[in-house]
Order: sequence, then structure tokens, then C-alpha cells
Amino acid sequence: MRISQCREEDVELLDQHMPSRSATSHHSARYARQREGRGTFLVAWRERVPVGSCEVRWEGCEAPEVRAAHPGCPEVNGLGVWPEILRSQGIGTALIREAERLAAQRECRAIGLGVEKNNPRAHALYQRLGYRPSLPYLDCWSYEDGAGVAHRVADACVFMVKRL
Ligand SMILES: CC(C)(COP(=O)(O)OP(=O)(O)OC[C@H]1O[C@@H](n2cnc3c(N)ncnc32)[C@H](O)[C@@H]1OP(=O)(O)O)[C@@H](O)C(=O)NCCC(=O)NCCS
Repeated sequence: MRISQCREEDVELLDQHMPSRSATSHHSARYARQREGRGTFLVAWRERVPVGSCEVRWEGCEAPEVRAAHPGCPEVNGLGVWPEILRSQGIGTALIREAERLAAQRECRAIGLGVEKNNPRAHALYQRLGYRPSLPYLDCWSYEDGAGVAHRVADACVFMVKRL
């Protein structure tokens, strides 16, 4: 397994292999933020197939209350491993470790991530990796389905933080 920063030509492969709820590719949005220097879009590969990804958002979590509590704290966003059969093999951990390495390289003192309150397995994984719950917040986001209908979602989350 190899981890690399997303290149322009990878976006199409990610769209093919990794499901997106939205009709508009969230992979291209993540890649666009990387080009603007606002994020680093990490992709895990098995051979030439993308099997996981996450984005390090250098500006931090979008929720203002989280940013206020943790100024200058980058966020690991959108962590996922596909297909499901490849989960629990260390891919998610490797992506998080790489995000932490990049944050330490930038001399960030901490890194954080949001986890949905109804995702106890992911919460347990982050706890094992040294993340501690800091504050609850609502993760508000929207997507457009295949019929062009916009959906707004508000997920109840906890922001977890690890000192680097
Ligand atoms: C959470 C996730 C990214 C972890 O990646 P991974 O490669 O499976 O993680 P690792 O192999 O490094 O660690 C495995 C641990 O992840 C946790 N985990 C969380 N959700 C899981 C899932 N659906 N399947 C398997 N493991 C999961 C468990 O604690 C697991 O440990 P266990 O198998 O000993 O119980 C991955 O399981 C996933 O994509 N889940 C669905 C999407 C999701 O929940 N993303 C997190 C958003 S905060």
C-alpha cells in the first residue's frame, strides 16, 4: 500500500472507485482546495487502485465554534476506505499517520478530526491513535443528488484532537 498526494489525473479514478453521494464530484472539490494550498488530499493505493482517502484541511474545521476553540488546528476530513472488505487492514491508520506527519512538518501543535456521534468504531480507532474528544458540534454540509435536488445535512459530531 502506498500513500500519495492526489494528482489531477487521479480525480477520475477516485470518482470511478470511490462512491460519492453527490452528483458533483467531492474529489474534484478536494483537489481544487489542494491546488489553492488550502488542503492536502491524500490517497491510499493498492497497485493502481485507490482504496482510501482523506483531506487535511489546513484552515481547520468549517464549524466556527471548533475553529474558535482550536485556532490553527488542521482537520483530517472525509476519511474513508473502499471497498468495505479492505477495512480493518490498517489503511485508515496509515492515512491518519501521514496526515499527522505532514502537520508536524508544518510545525502544527495539534491535529483534529470530527467523528459522528453514531460512529463508535471510528471513535474507538481515533481514541486508540491518541485523539481525545474536545467538543460537540454540528457538521453542516450539502450535496446535489443525480436528479439535481439539493440536500442539506447536519450531522451531530464530536471534534477530537491529538497533540503533536
Ligand atoms: C473508519 C475507517 C476510515 C477506518 O479505516 P480502516 O482502514 O478500516 O482502519 P484501520 O484498519 O486502520 O483500523 C481499523 C479500525 O477502524 C475502526 N472502524 C470504524 N469503522 C469501521 C468499519 N466500518 N469497518 C471496519 N473498521 C472500522 C475500528 O475501530 C477498526 O478496528 P477493529 O477492526 O479492531 O474494530 C474505515 O473503516 C471506513 O471507511 N469506515 C466507513 C467510513 C467512516 O466511518 N469514516 C470515518 C468518518 S469520521
